[in-house]
Parts: sequence; structure tokens; C-alpha cells
Amino acid sequence: MALVSQQLARQGKRVGLVPTMGALHEGHLSLIRRSASQNDAVIVTVFVNPLQFGPREDFARYPRNLARDVRLSRAAGADIVFAPSSRALYPSGFQTRIDVDRLSERWEGRSRPGHFRGVATVVTLLFQVTRPTNAYFGQKDYQQALIIQRLARDLQLSVKVHVLPTVREPDGVAMSSRNAYLTSAQREQAAVLPRALRAARARILAGERRARSILSRVRRLIRQATDARIDYAAIVDARTLEPQPRLHGRVAILLAVWIGRTRLIDNLLVDVP
Ligand code: PAF
Repeated sequence: MALVSQQLARQGKRVGLVPTMGALHEGHLSLIRRSASQNDAVIVTVFVNPLQFGPREDFARYPRNLARDVRLSRAAGADIVFAPSSRALYPSGFQTRIDVDRLSERWEGRSRPGHFRGVATVVTLLFQVTRPTNAYFGQKDYQQALIIQRLARDLQLSVKVHVLPTVREPDGVAMSSRNAYLTSAQREQAAVLPRALRAARARILAGERRARSILSRVRRLIRQATDARIDYAAIVDARTLEPQPRLHGRVAILLAVWIGRTRLIDNLLVDVP
């Protein structure tokens, strides 16, 4: 892969990178299509990164179907699917980690210790191997996207990091490979996440500025789903991810909710009028 990337760079080609863990869905495909429209060559990486999973998380059962991922990637405009083994990316003796400090502290970082260290490390490695001009990530993993933008800036990488809108199912549920873990009853209940986000946004647009009041409504709504358990619900500054007691500027409403044994995240950005 490194040799091919060098060759593409020598030919002056613009390379678009779409890093994924496979189990591709319409959200990933929208990133691939965008990448194909803005670059000369598109690389999709498929790698279930062990470094970003906690010991009690779903690494072993994460859905894997490379043949399907290759087919879908190609149909969406990918030129290369790079699916390295763990040993290829982390050969024996590998011991380097990338940490993005402040942005990683809260929310996903607190609930999943070590997660962003694993993400930042693998994404830096993938950038290094594929040398992209542009890289594409989904807004559904909003904190991850900010962290990757930050690391690209801090390490003075020449890649431009694009964050594309979340793709949703007709009932508003954000597309996610983990939706496959839900039973059909749980899948119905998952719609409570986008419903709560939209309700929060409506309150803000109607003039409410107290995060506490908006969040108590959000929590009430989510608790109506019998299998739902809130991990966190927060309204934060969209750039720093710090909580905002009184809302102003651009805010992100962040949700992490267990539906049964499946943990789902979602978010919405709102410009406070
Ligand atoms: O968002 C994901 O699928 C993963 O976190 C990423 C960015 C591919 C790194 O493993």
C-alpha cells in the first residue's frame, strides 16, 4: 500500500481516503461517493482496529464481511480497498501511541477509556501509509471527527479532513454497523435517540437557553423506551466539547444510550439563534 501511495503521489494524483472498520452501510458509501467526486483515486481502508476496543467491548463479534465491503466500495467509486492484517499495522514490538489530550477527555473518552488513543494511533498510521490529500469521516462520530481534525493540524499533516453529515434511516436512526446487534423491538426503540435530539433542537430554536432544562426533557423522552439506559446526554460547545450551561454560538447535542446490550451514539449540531 505504501508503494502504491508513493506512486500516486509521484503522479500528482489527489488521493481520497475513507477509513472504515467495514460492515459498510449507506453512511460509509456517502463518504466514498464524495471522495470519488473530489479526488483522482479513492482508497477505502477496512480494518477492525483492536487498539480502540476495550476488553469488555465488541471487538470479537464486530461484523466482518470483506467480500461484501469490497463489492460495495467499488460500486460507490473506490479504486483500492486496503484491508491490512493486525500484524501488518502493528508488527511485533510496536509501542507508539497518539494521544489528543483535551478533546479526548470527556464523553466517549470517559465511557471508553483508551478508545480515542486507539483511533488516533490507527488513523495516523493509515494517513502515513496512504498519504491522502483528503480524508472523509462521518459526523455521527462527532468527537472522533474533531479529534482527527485536531491531530492532523497538530502534527502538521498535509491531509484535509472532511466531516460529512450523518446518514439516517427513514425513522431518523443514524446508520451504524452496530444497529445490526438490535432485535427488531430494540431497533424500534432506537428511534428515541433522533426524536430526543430533534426535541432538544426545537426547544433551543424556541428560545430556551438553559441546557439543564433541555436535557431533563431529553432524558424523560429517552426513558420512555423500556430498554434504554442513558450513558450521557450533553449540550456542548461544538468546537471544544465543553458543556455549556447557557447556550450560545454553535452547540452539539451529544447522546450515548444503551438499548439493551447495544450502545448507540448520535448528535445534532445547532446554531443558537
Ligand atoms: O469510525 C470508525 O469506523 C473508526 O473509528 C476508524 C476511524 C475507521 C478508525 O478505526
